[in-house]
Amino acid sequence: MSIKLKTPAEIEKMRIAGKLAAEVLEMIEAYVKPGISTGELDKICYDYIINVQKAIPANIGYHGYQHTSCISINDVVCHGIPSFDKKLKDGDILNIDVTVIKDGFHGDTSRMYIAGKPTITGEKLCQVTQESLYEAIKIIKPGIRLKEIGKTIQKYVDKFGFSSVREYCGHGIGEVYHDEPQVLHYDADDGGVILKPGMTFTIEPMVNTGDWRTRTMKDGWTVKTKDHGLSAQYEHTILVTDNGVEVLTLRSNEDFPRIIEH
Ligand code: CO
Repeated sequence: MSIKLKTPAEIEKMRIAGKLAAEVLEMIEAYVKPGISTGELDKICYDYIINVQKAIPANIGYHGYQHTSCISINDVVCHGIPSFDKKLKDGDILNIDVTVIKDGFHGDTSRMYIAGKPTITGEKLCQVTQESLYEAIKIIKPGIRLKEIGKTIQKYVDKFGFSSVREYCGHGIGEVYHDEPQVLHYDADDGGVILKPGMTFTIEPMVNTGDWRTRTMKDGWTVKTKDHGLSAQYEHTILVTDNGVEVLTLRSNEDFPRIIEH
C-alpha cells in the first residue's frame, strides 16, 4: 500500500477545497426544517457549489450517482439519495455529506442536523457521534498507528451503549476522492500503517443506537441499520502535520480547534 504524502503546495489546495466543503454545510443549515424535501436541500447545495463557489460537486457521476449530496435520515446509515418526495418531519435527524473539488483537490465533510424539535435519543446520538470524531482527531500525530483512530472511536461510543458501523470507512483523499489508506472506525487491523506528516484522509464514524450491522436497499445505494435503530455520522478531512493535526473541513461556528500540536 502506498500512501501519498502531500507537498506544501498540494496542502494549500486541500485547505481551499476543505474550506469550501465546510461552507456548504454552514450555508445549508438555515434551510433544514420540517417540510423541506431532501431533493430541495440537495438542489440548494448544487447551486451554491456551482454558482457561488465555482467548484465541482464530486459526487455527481461518481459510480453513476446523480446528486450533489447524500442525505441520510434517521435509520439511514449513509448514502441516502436526495428526493423531492422525501420531506423532513419534526424530530428527524439527518446527515448531509458533500464533497467539493476545487483546483483538482477534494474536500469531504458531513455533519448531522435536527429538523425541528429533537428527540432525546436523536440528540444524544448526534452529540456522542461528533464527540467520537473529536476524540479521534485529538490523538492524531506522526508516529502513531492508524488503528488507534478506530480504537478510540469504538471505545468512546461503546461507553454510551452505541455501536460503531464496520462496513464503511474513512479514506485517503487528495486529487483522488477515495484513496489509500482505509480508515476503520473500530478496533481492527490497519496493515501496519503509521501516520506521517503530509497524509490527508477522512475520519467519518457512523454510530448506531443499536447493533452496528447494516443492510443496503434495493436502490443499490441507501444503507440502513439492520435493526431499524437510529444512525448518525460526522466527517472531517484532516491533515497529519509535523507535530499533530489540522482539520481541513472545520466550520467557522464549530467549537473545536483547527490545529492541534502535541
Ligand atoms: Co468520505
